[in-house]
Amino acid sequence: MDGTYDAINTISMAHAQGGTTAMIPTTYSSSSGSTFAAVRAVSEAMKKGVNGATILGVHLEGPYIAISQKGAQDEKYIREPTEEETEEMRKHKEIRLITAAPEVRGVLDFAEEMTHNGVIMSIGHSDATISDVEKAVEAGFSHVTHMYNAMSTVKRVGAYRYPGVVEAAYLMDDVSVDLIADGKHIPPYLIKLIIKNKGFEKVNVITDALKVMGLPPGRYAMGENEIIVDEGVAWLADRSAFAGSVSSMSSMFKVIVRDVGLPVAEAARLFSTNPASLLGIKTKGRIAIGYDADVTVLNQDFSVLAAIAEGRLAYKQEKRSASFEYELSRLELPMVGSTWLFRRLRRRTALKFGRSLPL
Ligand SMILES: [Fe+2]
Repeated sequence: MDGTYDAINTISMAHAQGGTTAMIPTTYSSSSGSTFAAVRAVSEAMKKGVNGATILGVHLEGPYIAISQKGAQDEKYIREPTEEETEEMRKHKEIRLITAAPEVRGVLDFAEEMTHNGVIMSIGHSDATISDVEKAVEAGFSHVTHMYNAMSTVKRVGAYRYPGVVEAAYLMDDVSVDLIADGKHIPPYLIKLIIKNKGFEKVNVITDALKVMGLPPGRYAMGENEIIVDEGVAWLADRSAFAGSVSSMSSMFKVIVRDVGLPVAEAARLFSTNPASLLGIKTKGRIAIGYDADVTVLNQDFSVLAAIAEGRLAYKQEKRSASFEYELSRLELPMVGSTWLFRRLRRRTALKFGRSLPL
């Protein structure tokens, strides 16, 4: 939200270090001025290029969300869509994804307009009922943001029970979802439940990482509020809820393989093929001829040895062995080298962790 090219460039480098090769940075609810400043900074980063993970566009998470499910977002900026803001958003083609609550007045019309414009609409920070979700899907919503976090689930009113966003996402086969796999926002059991119900093709892993990712435990400013980083996650100042994650893609990959028990090849799908297809990017998400050379090389302990974004070395671990230097030099030659390295890692990890997820 700093609204500068330098901020986006720094974010891109921090994420490359965590194993990300391409990303869409996310804004949270703020004033119109600061939201569009962030969008313009992303646009500049897309044009100029960055040193870290390639910037593919921007995700607006808010401001048209439910106050009752605001999470760490600042209530004073949460609002209903207006014609002026919608018009301004239509002009910015770098907006790829918008998270909104369909039950908020004006959001269904807004969603119709934005999906016509090629934007992916996602339900999140929402108290929607299942019938709200049905209307939302008709209006163009096709995705759900951070499953289980800041959304409605089964509610009991009197003697009756009403499904919420979570159950609607399970029932609607065409709706895809994303989840925060830091092992804190949702436990591995719920990650298993999501994958079991939605299948490998409809689940995406997001970092949801705040700008404090990689910083030591302590108190930090987020917008006008304070957050606490502790126990590997960011908390609201009163510790009543999580404020966001501080985890990188590689540590989430570790959670999915080690704690959820997915084999490496299936796990990789949730981090590469699925997000690329969600965003409609035909040249990413696979290691194959004709695709962008986006490759993350992980060590056996899941630490990132290198991140290659569109053939450019976006990150390379400084402390490395002579054998890694040799392997990296193979990567810079044909892509076959990287596939070989990936396969080797996959074989080793599969042997070590097995397949424990009953799908
Ligand atoms: Fe959120």
